[in-house]
Amino acid sequence: MSSRNLDFTRRSLLKTAALVPLASGAVGQEADASNSLKSKAARRGITFGCGVSAPQIAKDQAFRAAVMADCAEIVPWAEMKWGFLEREEGSLDFSSADALVQFAHANSLKIRGHTLVWYNNLPPWVPQALAGPDGRRFYETHIRTVLSHFGTKVVNWDVVNEAIEPNDKLPGSYRNSPFLKRFGPDYIPHAFEIARSVLPHTPLYYNDYGIEYNFQGSKRDAVLELLSSLSKRGLVDGLGIQSHLKIGLWFDAKAFRSFLADVASLGLSILLTEFDVNDMRAPADIATRDREVADHAFRYLETTLDEKAVKGLVAWGLSDRYTWLDVPPFARRDGLPSRGQPLDAKLQRKPLWDAIARALDGAPVRPS
Ligand code: XIL
Repeated sequence: MSSRNLDFTRRSLLKTAALVPLASGAVGQEADASNSLKSKAARRGITFGCGVSAPQIAKDQAFRAAVMADCAEIVPWAEMKWGFLEREEGSLDFSSADALVQFAHANSLKIRGHTLVWYNNLPPWVPQALAGPDGRRFYETHIRTVLSHFGTKVVNWDVVNEAIEPNDKLPGSYRNSPFLKRFGPDYIPHAFEIARSVLPHTPLYYNDYGIEYNFQGSKRDAVLELLSSLSKRGLVDGLGIQSHLKIGLWFDAKAFRSFLADVASLGLSILLTEFDVNDMRAPADIATRDREVADHAFRYLETTLDEKAVKGLVAWGLSDRYTWLDVPPFARRDGLPSRGQPLDAKLQRKPLWDAIARALDGAPVRPS
């Protein structure tokens, strides 16, 4: 090849490089801010956000930039849970949660509250304290203290998380938890009553998983029953559907669409609160895996976003750099890192990012 040709080749390569949109990676997204998940969502009246944890935000500047480029909202993975806030009785530590609130506000992001009443991640002293003579006081004080601390800095709350579990075979399909044991099912409306009294204008959500697929129909029914009784008393504003999807499970769009319509007909909002795709059953090959993840997600999102009551979508981790999907028992058996988040571990967009974007672009506009 002559030097002239070589030069030409180099020049055309440079030219091609200039044409490759910078926006193919999070780092260059400032180049076209409208080509972000948050703006695509906003154009439809939907809030797009992601779950994060405080150290990621504090220590990883590139990740922070990726969050700001794609998200209008963050949700703390753990920092607002009881087990995090009060390891020992009376020793409240809001510092990590406050750091996230501060980061959100400094960057015009919303922040959701997650979560007040959850059977999991309880401080070790709580189950015994709840069972004792002052159990009711501990329960009520926890809810009041946390809500009063954050006040209106938090846009909405998952008041009760994962309270339905048909496998526990109890009446009403309630999960067998320290709360249920001590107070009976009334602990659920009671939590909402307290929350309403502390923050009368903050939307309050019931949040759960395991209702996305058809074989979880009995859980769907029980959730609907619970929502219906809470909403009759004006205690709940919406349902959070965690949306932890899994390759290999068959998603029945029609049945789920009609469940969403049932929830909406109660006058409730719906949020997809912890969206991600577990790829442990997908092949190792990255291109195939990414395609399967994207296809599975698209079918789900196309269906859910069609319901106008669905007002928010939160990815449970924006990138494969930080994801609970790599932690057993959710991790792949072959030890390969999971690919269930919209950006890869280098914060580059993946087919899943495109699938989310396409589903948002195709969603009907929500009334404001
Ligand atoms: C998970 C977090 O992602 C992890 O980092 C943490 O160790 C455990 O909790 N349902 C929920 C979330 O409501 O709070 C959970 O988050 C995932 C399942």
